[in-house]
Amino acid sequence: MAMDAPPEIRVVDSPRALAELAAQEVLGVARAAVAARGRFTVALSGGATPRDTYQRLAQPPFAAQMPWDRTLVFFGDERGVPPDHPDSNYGMAQATLLSHVPIPADQIFRIEGEADDPDAVAARYARTVAGALGVRRGEVPRLDLVLLGAGLDGHTASLFPGSPVLKETFRTVAAVHAAAATIPQRFTMTYPILNAAGCIIYLVSGAEKAKVVKAALADRTSGVPAAMVRPAGRLLWIVDRAAAALVPASLVSAPRS
Ligand code: 6PG
Repeated sequence: MAMDAPPEIRVVDSPRALAELAAQEVLGVARAAVAARGRFTVALSGGATPRDTYQRLAQPPFAAQMPWDRTLVFFGDERGVPPDHPDSNYGMAQATLLSHVPIPADQIFRIEGEADDPDAVAARYARTVAGALGVRRGEVPRLDLVLLGAGLDGHTASLFPGSPVLKETFRTVAAVHAAAATIPQRFTMTYPILNAAGCIIYLVSGAEKAKVVKAALADRTSGVPAAMVRPAGRLLWIVDRAAAALVPASLVSAPRS
């Protein structure tokens, strides 16, 4: 997809339908990646919205169809907490998906949010991602899939409005201080690695997200971080009807179900 091609927008009836379609799309990307490169590399999103999708992937038929033994799991962002903390994105993914499917433990790469030196954590994770994907120093790793959400203020991953990290052009992972966030110490993948992904899928639901979905999809000049993720690969927004309420029907890729 060219950098300025409009994103694909699929509007579904409910959060349940969102999880079903998202699981189908993840399976499709995973199968294609394994067929092409023998493995599937994915960065998971945190927050509440992806929970249903993660739980759906751990259920039939997806649990048996996914190439878990060829799957490498990363995280698009993390909070500055230990893995067993209720706000840990890794902890949420473990509870809803990773502990229920046969992904080898050494193919799950968490961000060590609890460590003392945030900048060292970010640099180490950048090296971990690059090493796992076998890319040379200075080369941007190309993940097959990145799952993302959108916050009410338009943030995505832990790229918050007004943050200096929005201007990052070299580092692939950064430590950020997000004063407005529930856990201010954050770690996030940056635009360089997000925009290098083969596919990005946004999962957004709920009427409270209608304004940010409109800002991100119908007002490309809004500048909200979620609008600035423009991968060279496929960009798909899976949005439930409530969150899509302010998106012009002309922008929606599939008929509203
Ligand atoms: C996080 C996520 C964040 C999330 C949005 C939406 O660590 O919180 O990376 O970017 O996707 O805040 O969160 P909800 O899905 O809970 O609305």
